[in-house]
Amino acid sequence: MQWHAGEREIKSLFRALDCERIASHAHVQADPAVNGKELLKRRDFMGDLMAAIKERRSIRNFLDKEVPGEVLDQVLEAVRWSPSWANTQCWEVIVVKDGEQKQRLQETMGKGNPATRSIVEAPLVLALCGKKDSSGYYKGQVTTKFGDWLLFDLGIAAQSLCLAAHDLGLGTVIVGLFDHAKAMEILKVPEGYELVTLIPMGYPAKGSGAPKRREISEFTHWNQF
Ligand SMILES: Cc1cc2nc3c(=O)[nH]c(=O)nc-3n(C[C@H](O)[C@H](O)[C@H](O)COP(=O)(O)O)c2cc1C
Repeated sequence: MQWHAGEREIKSLFRALDCERIASHAHVQADPAVNGKELLKRRDFMGDLMAAIKERRSIRNFLDKEVPGEVLDQVLEAVRWSPSWANTQCWEVIVVKDGEQKQRLQETMGKGNPATRSIVEAPLVLALCGKKDSSGYYKGQVTTKFGDWLLFDLGIAAQSLCLAAHDLGLGTVIVGLFDHAKAMEILKVPEGYELVTLIPMGYPAKGSGAPKRREISEFTHWNQF
């Protein structure tokens, strides 16, 4: 059957395929001149990925709604498949659900940190830790001038985590401004590991606008800086 795809048709098609999130983006893809089935075939992964990268925002207000275990598993799966130095996978994730623990972590927040409330409001706080002296090392020796690449690897893992969470309808905010030593004590992070970031995660209560980004031309250099 030949038919032309409008926003409504695309939405209902994706809903029939149980792809609620894609359906909610149908307005981006609706084009009355394009055959619907063809459009479905052309809807590629790249479009989805770019949408997720651009639409993810730091979320600091959360609903009082639990994150199901299987949803959390998918977020952790995204961490699991992140790239890392020589596949060292130096990350460790502490899932903080306990209200008292969250309260104590909140007390470690830096003065005026806009994410302070999120630490207790979010149903979960994911504490990303890394094993020291492994990423960027070969046979126990540093291989580059940067020494430990732990921060780099955890940064990638954090972005995987946040994008996967966004894809699942969850909100996150990467929190870096807090007293790391105190938080490590609270979380009983062992010797040989660093706590890098706390990431409150839950269903967003309200979104926020996108802070302005630099233009591509402002940060792209050709052939030399
Ligand atoms: C390494 C890092 C540390 C951050 N620390 C904090 C923080 O302590 N508190 C906070 O509210 N947001 C924090 N953020 C979130 C940034 O403010 C936010 O990503 C940035 O303003 C861009 O906004 P967007 O995430 O909505 O695109 C941090 C982000 C990164 C990547």
